[in-house]
Amino acid sequence: MDHRRSDSRRKAGDLMQPLNISVLISGGGTNLEALLQAIEAQQIPARVVQVIASQPDAYGLTRAGNWDIPTKILPVNEPEKADKLLLEWLEEADTQLVVLAGYVKKVPPTVVAAYPNRMMNIHPSLIPAFAGPGWYGIKVHEGVWQRGVKLTGATVHFVNGEMDGGPIILQEAVALSHEDDPAAIQQKVLAVEHRLLPRAVSLFAAQKLQVAGHRVILKDEVSEQ
Ligand code: GRF
Repeated sequence: MDHRRSDSRRKAGDLMQPLNISVLISGGGTNLEALLQAIEAQQIPARVVQVIASQPDAYGLTRAGNWDIPTKILPVNEPEKADKLLLEWLEEADTQLVVLAGYVKKVPPTVVAAYPNRMMNIHPSLIPAFAGPGWYGIKVHEGVWQRGVKLTGATVHFVNGEMDGGPIILQEAVALSHEDDPAAIQQKVLAVEHRLLPRAVSLFAAQKLQVAGHRVILKDEVSEQ
């Protein structure tokens, strides 16, 4: 399998094969669960071949176990070894798409380079707002609350060398009321994430994403023009 394709579209013949997905997690894994449920419901012709965690206490590992999906844990205190192992594990599993679902570690340049426009991340804000280094998990929603914005949301984007800086695939906004505290904002945004991530993966699997420079064109959009 040629892992070094520049275009995120798979070859026509691949459409018949389920897409091999490796999911990277650091925490609870609710986005992983949403993706597995969408695959189970046959909304995406894909299979999650492994779940890789950045730490051993990630509850997402238990979720993967519930679905009989192989799991691996990166060595927390050996960053160089972890970077090497991550690339090895992804390639050994014949990964065609890498999904970062609540993965808080920086992906090493070697791995980003090996999966051009074939690695996507879900971020709990409307990028570029409340994004980049230090903006993850509840911190994002605390920032949203403190700034008093009326609209937040979620973003799925391809991963490049810049944290949360890759071409945007999908975004959906969430309207906030003054009663929403950071925890309530997080729940509202997670509900959107659990729809947005499976949809982005489904568009990828159906070859409906085209990357043009820093923009992502959805094939459906092209046909409507
Ligand atoms: C999600 O809000 C995701 O956008 C962010 O981390 C959170 C993880 O949630 N990157 P989960 O682990 O998928 O439940």
